[in-house]
Amino acid sequence: METVLARTLPSADIAPRRLHQAMRYAVLGGGKRVRPLLAFAAGEVAAAHEDRLEIVASAVELIHAYSLVHDDLPCMDDDVLRRGRPTVHIEFDQATALLVGDSLQSLAFQLLAQYPLAIDPQQQLEMVTLLAVAAGSRGMAGGQAIDLASVGQSLTLPELEFMHIHKTGALIRSSVMLGALCGQLTEKEMAQLDHFAKCIGLAFQVVDDVLDAEASTATLGKTAGKDAQQNKPTYVSLLGTTQAKTLAESLRQDALDALVGFGQTAQRLRELADFIVLRPF
Ligand code: IPE
Ligand code: IPE
Ligand code: MG
Ligand code: MG
Ligand code: MG
Repeated sequence: METVLARTLPSADIAPRRLHQAMRYAVLGGGKRVRPLLAFAAGEVAAAHEDRLEIVASAVELIHAYSLVHDDLPCMDDDVLRRGRPTVHIEFDQATALLVGDSLQSLAFQLLAQYPLAIDPQQQLEMVTLLAVAAGSRGMAGGQAIDLASVGQSLTLPELEFMHIHKTGALIRSSVMLGALCGQLTEKEMAQLDHFAKCIGLAFQVVDDVLDAEASTATLGKTAGKDAQQNKPTYVSLLGTTQAKTLAESLRQDALDALVGFGQTAQRLRELADFIVLRPF
């Protein structure tokens, strides 16, 4: 994945050099790559070809990297540390960070349009649509809007779930679905993967909330304790860490249950569900 991303991003020698440097800075050299790993693992279940999986995995990771660059801007979470390094707007400047996000998002869709992902062109268009919906106002960007509008508010549990499903769950779900669509599965199998993806997508943000409250800045590579400091409603602020962890654990179980019948080909997906809930960072 690192090699693929490094050769997919424009070289830092090509003009505009500062923008290209900043795009590479934002994407390369850090990050758990959970979304690409999910795409590959779902692709394994669907017997998908690696060439296709590299494309969808890159596209999803580029959208994710863009969302982090914008999430860290002063107008959003105002963070100075990401993946153990200064955030893009600190290392470069705010205008560059904005353009890095714009350009990474465009590049993601360029990849999905440029390379063959399915025999049927209609299916490839559906894959483009799937990522567009997951990234846009009915997905990640919409969740971010709710997140910002919720500062200082106390949300109900369903409202909090709605926010998390959108800001984080949608893109994680698209990673799994796009990986699976690179191969061949029955409708029933797709529905099973969809349920798996929804469970771990929500679990991912529940755990992110817990880690923000419990882990150290050194371990996280981003400033710990920001959610409480910024008065954000989270699973920790609403339920406390113990209940939030219990919820994450029950979502992991639901996710694993959704994979019943898949056998050995879904082993990597199971391992990723474990990693997402039990991870230390
Ligand atoms: C952080 O995502 C932002 C959320 C959606 C919670 P990750 O925890 O996947 O960040 P990286 O990619 O590993 O840095
Ligand atoms: C970020 O959620 C979600 C997206 C970037 C879409 P957070 O704001 O909790 O992510 P971190 O904790 O800064 O990584
Ligand atoms: Mg945020
Ligand atoms: Mg943030
Ligand atoms: Mg967080």
